[in-house]
Amino acid sequence: MIVGKKVRLVPLDTEKHLDYIMEHFNNPQMRVYLGGYIPVSRNAEREWIEAAEESLKKRTDFHFAIETHPDGNMIGTLGLHDVDWLSRSCVLGIAIYEEQNWSKGYGTESIQLLLDFGWAHLNMRRIELGVHDHNPRARHVYEKIGFKHYGTAHQKYYIDGRYVDTHYMEILREQTAS
Ligand SMILES: CC(C)(COP(=O)(O)OP(=O)(O)OC[C@H]1O[C@@H](n2cnc3c(N)ncnc32)[C@H](O)[C@@H]1OP(=O)(O)O)[C@@H](O)C(=O)NCCC(=O)NCCS
Repeated sequence: MIVGKKVRLVPLDTEKHLDYIMEHFNNPQMRVYLGGYIPVSRNAEREWIEAAEESLKKRTDFHFAIETHPDGNMIGTLGLHDVDWLSRSCVLGIAIYEEQNWSKGYGTESIQLLLDFGWAHLNMRRIELGVHDHNPRARHVYEKIGFKHYGTAHQKYYIDGRYVDTHYMEILREQTAS
């Protein structure tokens, strides 16, 4: 468990997290900030958690549930993916599922905890991410943390009735305090 002041990051667990994911991941307002909205079934989510457990064990992907701390309520998921062990580079993803939990500082702290984990425990050197143009909140958070914009893919994804631009950002370990 990775523990901060407001949140903690814990490995995904079917028994503990599946019900919350089922209740809130199929939220179209949130999913427009990810890949778009195609509903996910309970079986598919169960398989996704099992795959996440397996990839954590095999050290290929590092998914976590975000829980509030100290009360332990799940609010979302995040992770480091597509790990390239040779170049020590990977991709960060995060979603806090419910609008009522946005802009309360949970995302900023979760990402900072995940970066610390990536540098200190996975020996990563570079972490990147993609953020859609219609998501200024997320972009602000990433910039605040120290991610730098390095390129834009134009009209790469079709989301909610239109093609959207996606900005790519990166952070190097040497640019952070850790
Ligand atoms: C993006 C996300 C992870 C950010 O986490 P969060 O807990 O909401 O963010 P925080 O509360 O830590 O910080 C929010 C910051 O954005 C600012 N903000 C809020 N709305 C904003 C907007 N429309 N435009 C710009 N900045 C905005 C807040 O003022 C705050 O900045 P500050 O700390 O400088 O005052 C979270 O909102 C989320 O998961 N959203 C839905 C899914 C998603 O977008 N995932 C990311 C895909 S790239």
